[in-house]
Amino acid sequence: MILVFCIVLGLVQWGYVEAACDVVTKKQWDGLKPLHVEYLPRPVNIVIIEHTATPGCSTDAGCEELVRNIQNNQMEQLNFWDIGMSFLVGGNGKVYEGSGWLRVGAHTYGYNRRSIGISFIGNYNTDEPTADQLEAVRKLIQCGVDKGHLTSDYHLLAHRQLISTESPGRKLYREIRTWPHYLENATSIMNNS
Ligand SMILES: *[C@@H]1O[C@H](CO)[C@@H](O)[C@H](O)[C@H]1NC(C)=O
Repeated sequence: MILVFCIVLGLVQWGYVEAACDVVTKKQWDGLKPLHVEYLPRPVNIVIIEHTATPGCSTDAGCEELVRNIQNNQMEQLNFWDIGMSFLVGGNGKVYEGSGWLRVGAHTYGYNRRSIGISFIGNYNTDEPTADQLEAVRKLIQCGVDKGHLTSDYHLLAHRQLISTESPGRKLYREIRTWPHYLENATSIMNNS
């Protein structure tokens, strides 16, 4: 039992769980280690689509720099344990490891302990998500289901359905409402229901 636990911790630590879903690991983007870790129940049945409301990025170098800046800002200014989003996805079509599949993130107050938050890098009130970006997120979610991180009947929601925010921006909101698993009426999964 203890051995299994150690192996799981080791895999999490070195980013294998994320690498298996074609994610750029924190080690690869040169991120800081979390100050504290809490684990999610597994599998999770809520996926929340968000945006960072920062400038967008289209190159590998530019996206990595933005992800590092977001982590620095959240850890230094906001005193988060780690970068808050579970995953981030750049205009270059790459997915970046945040708090990942297994750890509790800090993205949607009240829902962090039972959801995965996927944040598109950019501001989608004005930007259009790229085809590569959308495809990367579809693949990421499918991989999450295949690997047992997400239930196969997961619910997909927009950030703004759960908390007071414009995220994920009008254009991305319009897009994800057409996706499979999109939950139009969030009442049934809301904390106060
Ligand atoms: C949303 O679902 C709840 C039950 O979960 C129901 O009471 C409510 O009427 C629904 N709202 C709409 C707009 O359909």
